[in-house]
Amino acid sequence: MIDLSSKYMGLELNNPIIVGASSLTNDMDYLKKIEKAGAGAVVIKSLFEEQIQLERFKMQEDQERYKYRHPEMITIFPEMEHPGPKEHLYWLKKAKKDLSIPVIASLNAKNESTWIKYAKSIEETGVDAIELNFYASPKDFASNSKDIEQEQINIIQKIQNEISIPVSVKLSYFYSNILNFLSRVDKTGVAGVVIFNRLFQPDIDIDKEENIFSLNLSRSIDNRLALRYTGLLSENISADICSTTGIIKSSDVIKMLLAGASNVQIVSALYRYGIDYIKKLLEKMEKWMEEKGYNSLSDFRGKMDKKHSKDPWAYTRAQYVKILMNPEKLLEKSEI
Ligand SMILES: Cc1cc2nc3c(=O)[nH]c(=O)nc-3n(C[C@H](O)[C@H](O)[C@H](O)COP(=O)(O)O)c2cc1C
Repeated sequence: MIDLSSKYMGLELNNPIIVGASSLTNDMDYLKKIEKAGAGAVVIKSLFEEQIQLERFKMQEDQERYKYRHPEMITIFPEMEHPGPKEHLYWLKKAKKDLSIPVIASLNAKNESTWIKYAKSIEETGVDAIELNFYASPKDFASNSKDIEQEQINIIQKIQNEISIPVSVKLSYFYSNILNFLSRVDKTGVAGVVIFNRLFQPDIDIDKEENIFSLNLSRSIDNRLALRYTGLLSENISADICSTTGIIKSSDVIKMLLAGASNVQIVSALYRYGIDYIKKLLEKMEKWMEEKGYNSLSDFRGKMDKKHSKDPWAYTRAQYVKILMNPEKLLEKSEI
């Protein structure tokens, strides 16, 4: 009997497939389907401080406009205020109440005080854990990496001082030395690290000469960075590693576990193939384990991380140099 059960941040999961934060986890019908299809856990779409700020700003603007056109608005709604994160918090409570699989909240704030305030409110909803989503692509030329990193470490530390549910940190790979930063994050005592977030990447339509804002779904080829860093981090940090971006096929899930991931998160695969695709992933994983004679995930997890791999150099630059020294092999295999 194959046992797919897994642990993540101390939570018991039926299997290592977690549905990552997205619009799919912002809708109860989808969440029910996700649970029914057999996901191990879900991460609810992030609470974004920036979104609340924008909504609040728009509401103030609308009120100002109405004040002049319909002065009675001031007497009818003298102090109409934006509810802030209340709606999202209510949604988290509902998700936790209606689902039996672990529910992980996700937060992305801008200001340190808001990170802490919202994290505390999220804990009160009863969710099982919180993922801190440090989604910030550099937009200015002034801020320097040292200050950005220290600010993030301070936030992670302060949140953990204030709440007691498990905390994970989801990052992009845009750091000068992501290994150094992740080991600093690990030392704050977080229960999990989620590598890596996929940053929003706008495109340009050259006929219309307009920006395109598409879903930007990933493919398996996009998981190589997560694979490499999972292998390098495994056995070097205490936090559980949850690998993400480009986990599309069952072989992608298996690769991440071989490299030392405790679990994976998927999003694009479900947008492409539908929510029931989770069942297929699980079936194929079971089949592979059966063929290999593995009964549980611990039988093969980390078997191919940097420490245990037959070729530990596979994770380092030497391999890259080897490929460059054999350009004819590159030509044979390169695709456009
Ligand atoms: C439509 C959509 C919405 C998303 N919303 C969030 C979000 O609210 N918070 C977050 O941390 N990541 C969000 N993500 C990123 C995903 O959680 C995930 O990290 C990313 O898509 C990479 O995984 P994938 O390759 O399986 O898609 C979103 C992705 C998509 C496609």
